[in-house]
Amino acid sequence: MAMRQGERRVRLPEARLAEGRGAAGGCQSGVLSRLARPVAICPVAMGCRALARMIHALALVETSFVAAGAQVWQFASVIRCAMVGERTSIGPYTKVDGAQIGSDCRIEDHCSINPGTVIGDRVFVGPGVRFCNDLWPSTDKEGFESPTRPTVIVEDDVSIGAGAIILPGVRIGKGALVAAGAVVGKSVAPGVVYRRNDWKALQRPADWPKRRMRYVA
Ligand SMILES: CC(C)(COP(=O)(O)OP(=O)(O)OC[C@H]1O[C@@H](n2cnc3c(N)ncnc32)[C@H](O)[C@@H]1OP(=O)(O)O)[C@@H](O)C(=O)NCCC(=O)NCCS
Repeated sequence: MAMRQGERRVRLPEARLAEGRGAAGGCQSGVLSRLARPVAICPVAMGCRALARMIHALALVETSFVAAGAQVWQFASVIRCAMVGERTSIGPYTKVDGAQIGSDCRIEDHCSINPGTVIGDRVFVGPGVRFCNDLWPSTDKEGFESPTRPTVIVEDDVSIGAGAIILPGVRIGKGALVAAGAVVGKSVAPGVVYRRNDWKALQRPADWPKRRMRYVA
C-alpha cells in the first residue's frame, strides 16, 4: 500500500509478527494473531473505510506493529514489540511500550501503556491514564520489560476515564467504565461503573448515552 505523507514504515515485518515472534519477545501469540490478521487492502471491499495508517512524522514507531487504518499522533511512541490494531488511534505524547491494543480503540493523549498490558477492541482510554506493571517498583526492571504473561487485561468495550491508574494484576471486564481519577487495584466486573478508590461498583445507568455531555450553563 502506498505510504501517506508523514508516514514511516515500522521495521518489524508483519509476517514475522503474525508468526508470534516479536522483536522483543514475550508477546501473546493469541493476541498477535488476532491483531496481525490479514488486512484487505481494497478500500471498496472494505466499504471505503480509510485503511492507510497515519503515523505522524513526529511520532516514534519502532520494532512494533501498527495495523491498517490506525493513527499514531505527534510525540507518541509505539515501541518494543507493541501491537496497535486496525483503526485504533494513539493520541499525542502517549507511550505504548510492549503492550497490545486491539482494533477500533481510542487512546487519548499522555497515556502510559506498559509491557504486559493487553487491551481488547473498542476500548476508550482517557487522557493521562497509566497502566502499571510493577507493584513495588525499583531500578531493577528485569522481567518487567517483556513479561511472559499479561499484567493487566482490559476486555472489549471498556471505557477508562481521564487520569485513572490501573495497577498490575487486574482485569477490567467487558463494557465496564472506570471513573476519572480512579485507582484500580482490583479486577472490575463486566458492565459496571467503577468509581472512587473504594472498589465500589455501580451498574451503568441505562440512559448513560444521554448523560455524556454536560454544560456549565
Ligand atoms: C463515573 C461517572 C461516569 C459518573 O457519572 P454520573 O453517574 O453522571 O455522575 P454523578 O454526577 O451522577 O455522580 C454520582 C456519584 O458518583 C460520584 N462520582 C462521579 N464521578 C466520580 C469520579 N470520577 N470519581 C469518584 N466519584 C465520582 C459523584 O460524586 C456522586 O457521588 P454521590 O452519589 O456520593 O453524590 C463520571 O463522573 C466519570 O468519571 N466519567 C469519566 C469522564 C472522563 O474521564 N471522560 C474522558 C475524558 S473527556
